[in-house]
Amino acid sequence: MPADTDTLPEALADEIRRRVFAPGLIRLTQTLTRQGQPFRISLRPVRIKGQDLWQAEMRDGTQAKTRNLSEPAARKGLEDILAQTGKRELHLVTREGDLHVRVGKRGTPLVSRGKPKAAPGAPAAPAGNDRAKRQPLTDFDSAALLRVLGIAGADGAVRASMRGKYDQVNALLRALEPLLPEAPPPAFSIVDCGCDKAYLTLALHAYLTQAKGWRGVSTLGVDRNSGVVESAQAMAQALRPEGEIAFRCADIKDVSPERAPDLVMSLHACDTATDDALLLAIRAKAQRILCVPCCQHELHHALAGGGPMRAVLRHGILRERLADLLTDTFRVQILRICGYRAAVMEFDSQEATGRNLLIRAQRGLRPGLGEAIAEYEALRDFWGVTPYIAQALGEGAGRGGDGGR
Ligand SMILES: C[S@@+](CC[C@H](N)C(=O)[O-])C[C@H]1O[C@@H](n2cnc3c(N)ncnc32)[C@H](O)[C@@H]1O
Repeated sequence: MPADTDTLPEALADEIRRRVFAPGLIRLTQTLTRQGQPFRISLRPVRIKGQDLWQAEMRDGTQAKTRNLSEPAARKGLEDILAQTGKRELHLVTREGDLHVRVGKRGTPLVSRGKPKAAPGAPAAPAGNDRAKRQPLTDFDSAALLRVLGIAGADGAVRASMRGKYDQVNALLRALEPLLPEAPPPAFSIVDCGCDKAYLTLALHAYLTQAKGWRGVSTLGVDRNSGVVESAQAMAQALRPEGEIAFRCADIKDVSPERAPDLVMSLHACDTATDDALLLAIRAKAQRILCVPCCQHELHHALAGGGPMRAVLRHGILRERLADLLTDTFRVQILRICGYRAAVMEFDSQEATGRNLLIRAQRGLRPGLGEAIAEYEALRDFWGVTPYIAQALGEGAGRGGDGGR
């Protein structure tokens, strides 16, 4: 028999209320069936135009509606979620650990809990009350940096809505570590392609100059959006970091550094802008590359395949994932041909970003390696597509990246 009322026990509801509005929330989702259709509502913290908000998404069958809510409206929305009855599932995903509640036909909630989230490679959370995890951004006094970036509020605490960005920057700094020289180099130049609001640009510059104490760090952030370039310049002026830091409003395609950069990076540069960042690095003979690709549309429509592949390509999502996978495989293969040892890894938690794949590369292979060319050509011929990055390099691809302009 269903219970008279199957709302959640007050202690459990209180725990959910507390954790949804505490720092560390990634997402709350509740799914149920309404009028025979699946209905899903989710709530997650977002920061929009400097304001901490909660984004509610309601998905009713195939229709989806999104609203950005102030805290009072989000609290009311949460009460509506908690007041739902009937068979349902609630998943609360936070940095401190997940909470899953399943309410079946009988109305009795089944509760399970997950472990705290740690990004791959992150040190385990210390036990007891010492919960402050050691992170690259805690290796130096990053208070001013985090405040200027808007990651922390005036009180110095990381904002709930910026926790994801804070963790992402830490994860990228950790992923970069194996590429960095042990001893402080006399000079170290960085180009950040598609730097946007310069979270990573300014954080990396501060990490190298303050946590590592390197002198001679020069950083260039490039973005074609003049608004973000102006705000990045203003932030750099406010912080006045050691070394040199500059921002340029330009298309990545039009930037050619005079000297080989020590590091070229791009985090979620849109579509083929990721390829343009890799092309910049290859042509300028950058020593190191850190690249997290973003949305990519290039191969999505170009892929055609009969036989067994037709079953995969028929479905939009599978086609998209396959196109992503192939695009990144082509990129890595071109890097190998151009003389880079490349590794592919996940750098952040899957919940934090779906665009979680990192290409980390360092110069050191002989350019034009026969095996790398043969593998690339076999893949290209199998799929009958030439990716943008190879088209742009032209014949240069086989000579280790010379030419192709
Ligand atoms: C999602 S944001 C990147 C986020 C940023 N890297 C970070 O760490 O937070 C993508 C940025 O790439 C810029 N962008 C896209 N294509 C570009 C291109 N071809 N040249 C320069 N900037 C580009 C956009 O203007 C946007 O600011």
